[in-house]
Amino acid sequence: MIWKSIIGKLWATIIALVTIVLLFLTVLLLQFFENNNIQQVEHQMEKIGGKAAYMLQSSGDQKAALSAVSEIANVYDSGSAVVSRDHFWLSPSGYNHLPKLDRRFFESNPILKKALSGNQIVKTQGSFPVNRDGRHVQEKMIIVGVPARTADGRGAVYVFQSLRIIQNTMDQSKKLISISAGIAIILTTFFAFFLSTRIGAPLRRMRTAAIQVAHGNFDINVPVVTRDEVGELAVAFNKMRKKLKENMTALSQEKEQLSGILENMADGVLMLDEQGNIRASNPPANRFVRSWHFENDDNPSRSVNHTPDLLIDLFEKVAKQESPQIQETGVQGRFWVIIMTPLYDRRKVRGAVAVLRDMTEERHIDELKKGFIANVSHELRTPIAMMQGYSEAIIDDIAQTDQEKKDMAQIILDESKRMGRLVNELLDLARMEAGHFQLEKKDIPLVDFFEHAVYKFSKLAKESGIALSMDTDIRKDERFELDPDRIEQVMTNLIDNAIRHTRKGGSVSVGVYHVNQQIRVSVRDTGTGISPKDLPFVFERFYKEDKARTRGKSGTGLGLSIARHIVEAHGGEISVNSKKGQGTTFLFTLPDAAGK
Ligand SMILES: Nc1ncnc2c1ncn2[C@@H]1O[C@H](COP(=O)(O)OP(=O)(O)OP(=O)(O)O)[C@@H](O)[C@H]1O
Ligand SMILES: [Mg+2]
Repeated sequence: MIWKSIIGKLWATIIALVTIVLLFLTVLLLQFFENNNIQQVEHQMEKIGGKAAYMLQSSGDQKAALSAVSEIANVYDSGSAVVSRDHFWLSPSGYNHLPKLDRRFFESNPILKKALSGNQIVKTQGSFPVNRDGRHVQEKMIIVGVPARTADGRGAVYVFQSLRIIQNTMDQSKKLISISAGIAIILTTFFAFFLSTRIGAPLRRMRTAAIQVAHGNFDINVPVVTRDEVGELAVAFNKMRKKLKENMTALSQEKEQLSGILENMADGVLMLDEQGNIRASNPPANRFVRSWHFENDDNPSRSVNHTPDLLIDLFEKVAKQESPQIQETGVQGRFWVIIMTPLYDRRKVRGAVAVLRDMTEERHIDELKKGFIANVSHELRTPIAMMQGYSEAIIDDIAQTDQEKKDMAQIILDESKRMGRLVNELLDLARMEAGHFQLEKKDIPLVDFFEHAVYKFSKLAKESGIALSMDTDIRKDERFELDPDRIEQVMTNLIDNAIRHTRKGGSVSVGVYHVNQQIRVSVRDTGTGISPKDLPFVFERFYKEDKARTRGKSGTGLGLSIARHIVEAHGGEISVNSKKGQGTTFLFTLPDAAGK
């Protein structure tokens, strides 16, 4: 709507103002003209009356004087009447169409009467009842009466004029004034429209620009056309837009940086609002929330936006004490530490930020460290105690025969070898874990190599009553690049384990195959097997299923851990399958480095 715009309002105001002023002026002017006109006419008529009275007095020829009076009055569109004691004379109406007045008319009017009796000039104007063409009508007239001395004594000359004539002049002036006012209004309309458009156009442009800015388009510039306040407004607007753009860019960059940091953080971050609802979170935090719902909720499909009760409780504590709180919790086998800090809105807590750290690895390493020291001490203490005991026995001559002494010395030798082996294995492992571990790869005939590794155990297998066999689909002359000493170490441990954990009458079979550009080696036994709960841990150092660490059959528990390091250093993988009581299969792969 045009009336709602500034242009419309400005336009309407200017037109209304000009119209009111013009109307006022017109009314005042008309009034002034009317008054002035009537005054002039009255003055004129008075002068005519005066002249007529003088002529009647001084002229000897009454008739000629009367006709002269009538002529003069006629010139001024007026009629005249002379009233004396015996006579009444009225000028002919002529082309002025003046009404026919009679003697009674003048004598009955209280004001006009005064000119006859009171020797006084009278003036009156108004509506008078007259006889026009035999009909009684009201006629607006100005009448001036002047006392005169006529031939038959005192009398009066009356000059009268119809107001219609004045009205006609007035109408002319009115028409003129109205036309001028109309022209003025039309001109004003154009001028006002032009003015308001000139003021309004830049404002309209600014409005469009402001709407654009509100919609996030900061590239729009308002042209500065004028040097007035509107121009200054445009300059200010452009400055504001530029500053806003800079701030918004900085803000969005900061937001991007922050979200980038959050997204790529290893720690989980959650932001809670006043009600404890999750307002922002990153992937690790989502993982935590999902796991928590899975473990603790009847409804495991709850979305990651649903705050876990645990965090709500912690948030209530944070809000109450207005200080950071720390809580540790275990979810789905992982260990989390949650640190929640309050966020303030001036003095009020408006939410909280929770940092969730997955400390499972650290916990595990801590436990491993503790376990490692305990294990090493335990593994060393036993041989040392034995060596100590048997050495004392020899010194104290407890052994009676030479054979007994030899046996004791043999035990001491075995235990020291065992200690040496343990220390060597530990050193190996330490080197491997530290990364100071170099493979010495050689191109070797594959089948010969594995046959030799198996053959080493044939004597032990026979003694234990176990059938040891090897199967392969590889050609006899095929060669392969690997570190023979290290792979032999792996094979030795796997076959040794298999024989040690298989009862008499069982079997251990080794398979070496070429599958998908890989050498796949399996060691299968029909032994005791490993229970499912121990299965995931057999590759950890010092891990032994036999928790009592009974001597004899049991080794140090480092073999598989070393084997895994060696296989992985070759770029392969080692895995295990087992069923308690039915047997175990260890399988490792070696990628074909030459791509054969
Ligand atoms: N073939 C198997 N059958 C049953 N259990 C096995 C088998 N191989 C390994 N294990 C279990 O896994 C554990 C770890 O084996 P690993 O080779 O690492 O240590 P170890 O043989 O006890 O000692 P080391 O090899 O250092 O002399 C063993 O103690 C055993 O309990
Ligand atoms: Mg072993």
